[in-house]
Formats: sequence, C-alpha cells, structure tokens
Amino acid sequence: MERTLVLLKPDAVQRGLVGAITHRFERKGLKIVALKLMQITRKLAQRHYAPHKGKDFYEPLLEFVTAGPTVAIVLEGNDAVRVARTMMGDTFGPEAIPGTIRGDYGMSKRYNLIHGSDSPATAAKEIELFFSPNEVCHYDRPRDAWTYARAGGELI
Ligand code: RTP
Ligand code: MG
Repeated sequence: MERTLVLLKPDAVQRGLVGAITHRFERKGLKIVALKLMQITRKLAQRHYAPHKGKDFYEPLLEFVTAGPTVAIVLEGNDAVRVARTMMGDTFGPEAIPGTIRGDYGMSKRYNLIHGSDSPATAAKEIELFFSPNEVCHYDRPRDAWTYARAGGELI
C-alpha cells in the first residue's frame, strides 16, 4: 500500500489542532504507521525543502518550520499521497475550500498548518528523512476488512 509523509507544522501544534487534524485522517481510513513530536532542525528543514531553495519564501519557510515542535506522521492506504493532499486543500487557508484542513482551519498566507508529500517517489524520500525504518510499524487493523472491499487479491 502507498505511504505518505504528513507534517503538522508548528502552527498546528501551537493552535492545539493536532488531535482534530489527525482525527480526520483516521476517520477517512488512512492508517497511521509512524508518528512523533519533534523539533525540526535547520539542517533537516533545508534537506526537506531543498526543491524550494532560492525561492523568495525559502528563508521564511525554514524559520516557520523550525520555530516550534512539529508532529511527523506516516499514513498508509490506497492512493495515500493523493487522498491526503486532497484532504489538505490548496496551499494557503484563504484560498483552500471549506471542508479541507487548510480551508477549515487556516487564515494565513504563511502559516499553513500541514505538509503532505506530493508523489509516491517524494514520499519515500521524505519518510526516510524523518523516520528510521524501525520507527515505522507494520500491523493489521481488523476494521480494514470494512475500509476496503476485496476484489480478487486486491483491496479496492
Ligand atoms: P507542502 O509541500 O507544504 O505540503 O505544500 P504545497 O505542496 O501545497 O506547497 P509547495 O508549493 O510545495 O510549497 C511548500 C511550502 O512552502 C511554503 N510556500 N510559501 N508563495 C509563498 O509564499 C509560498 N509558496 C509556498 C508553504 O509553507 C508550502 O507549504
Ligand atoms: Mg509541496
């Protein structure tokens, strides 16, 4: 099954939204396979946001994500990357539609609450950056018999 890295950024932690946001992913049916509260160092932020190096928002972005603790989560499920990003909404709260995480909780053009990997290949790299292999759990949830249908050998 596909995996994605989600970060609940320092504004989400400071605003007490960790439970509310995590709850949405759980209710959707995505499975939490890793989760930790951590302080992102400048070095880790530079590696994670390397594709944005040189852009005008790069420095403020590094400052933002290192300004306080972040919750890092690995979610697993069919199409997990796309599903999580759809749930997050557009990059900034004022433009994100209501019903999405940023659309429901965000007002800022900088403090945008959450990160989600943008492709399965990026997700694999980002998960490796934030978690060691033994921090990612492998387990079954009996209720997933009702989260997905079984079609041949596949869960759909
Ligand atoms: P993310 O990577 O955080 O999940 O968000 P995203 O795909 O929607 O946004 P992306 O374009 O990858 O940008 C990464 C993060 O950089 C900040 N940003 N600021 N014009 C700006 O001021 C600007 N554009 C992007 C945001 O924190 C965004 O989440
Ligand atoms: Mg992105």
